Amino acid sequence: MIAGRFPENFLWGTATASHQVEGGNHGNDWWAWEQVPGHIKNGDRSDPACEQFERYAGDFDLLRSLNQNAHRFSVEWSRIEPAPGQFSAMALAHYRDVLQALRDRGMEPLVTLHHFTNPAWIAQAGGWDAPETAEYFARFAQRVTDELGTLARSWITINEPTVIAYQGYLRGDWPPGRRDLGAAARVLVNLLRGHWMAYERIKSRHADLQIGLAHHLRVFDPARWFMPQDRAVAAAFNRVFNETMLKSLRLGRLVFPLTRAGRASGPRQSQDFIGLNYYARELVKFNRRYREELFGERVLPAGAPRSDLNWELYPDGLYRTLRSLLREQLPILVTENGIADAADAKRPEFLLTHVGAMLRAIQTGVPVRGYFHWTCFDNFEWAEGYSAKFGLIACDPVTQERRPRPSARLYAEICRLNGLPATVELPPAPRQPAEPAGPADLR
Ligand code: FCB
Repeated sequence: MIAGRFPENFLWGTATASHQVEGGNHGNDWWAWEQVPGHIKNGDRSDPACEQFERYAGDFDLLRSLNQNAHRFSVEWSRIEPAPGQFSAMALAHYRDVLQALRDRGMEPLVTLHHFTNPAWIAQAGGWDAPETAEYFARFAQRVTDELGTLARSWITINEPTVIAYQGYLRGDWPPGRRDLGAAARVLVNLLRGHWMAYERIKSRHADLQIGLAHHLRVFDPARWFMPQDRAVAAAFNRVFNETMLKSLRLGRLVFPLTRAGRASGPRQSQDFIGLNYYARELVKFNRRYREELFGERVLPAGAPRSDLNWELYPDGLYRTLRSLLREQLPILVTENGIADAADAKRPEFLLTHVGAMLRAIQTGVPVRGYFHWTCFDNFEWAEGYSAKFGLIACDPVTQERRPRPSARLYAEICRLNGLPATVELPPAPRQPAEPAGPADLR
């Protein structure tokens, strides 16, 4: 059993993104994408989502009643800057009210500036494949922090750069729907530039603000440890997907393979904390036919527990990832971690084992400062529409009824105790593979 409490002032909350919960976001590239048949499961659209643009105060009351002391959400760029250089006083006032509502309830805000959606005018000008987008983003980031910086101390510039590049430019199943390795690499470079420029602008004006990025890190293990080719592709996946961005940010320059996609540099150490989004592990098998994917076919371990989306449930991956981040020597926030589980059959154990893995990591000295479960309310899950249910609280997009699932109560108990309930027996930590492939050595 994992005993012990989390450090004092540990942040416990949930995470959301504007487009997934607000409703009414018709001015961005995702809304346009949703209008095309076949893009979103069941033809779903992000309107009405959770109608949180109107319902945020009641929703925050509910989260506060469940003992959460923090909340991560994103501001919607297309509302704030609907046309180039034209900032909406109304939209900024709205997010000021949202932040004030959190403060009034004693909940620490964590604000994301970019969570996947781009204003339509940015998409029309080439999206993140266009170098100017980084400058537009920095201008937006500056304006928002100038207006709202006194209400929130911690900010995330960009959510999951690697996922944006992979889904939008390599797989092509998110906007802008391209399948072009060169474009994916350029997009990563421009996202890095966007972060660097935003970081410098914000810090020069508001030195006290804490600025980070939310990184999606997965564990890639070889499907067959005895096969050198599998080990090689797993190592390549780790390098490209988990390490390149972190290392570039640490050094203030591009590292291979990004060096082949452009030239850019920025300040060294341009993160004040690491945001970690952790969901799953994947096993990688060498396969000649998977040229576009570094010759790696991703497979599920036989008999592995999995979510409704078939993602492997692998709490030890959170422990291993947190351990690997020790090298960054920065405070860490777990900015997302959750499970699609409509029946709420596996979520309670998911919560206990992942919070337990995080506690184990803290006990070995990893400086984790907070945990934001993905997510509070079932919402618009991108290409999965409303079919994937990630909420601690069910939310019906038709009736807008909110119904806490049993795991909402369990999470409330964890938040209240600032630790795991004493009665909980955790399964033993999964055995470490003989040669952990980790998200391994980041230096
Ligand atoms: C993450 C995204 C978040 C949500 C979860 C399930 O990759 O940041 O918006 O889609 O996955």
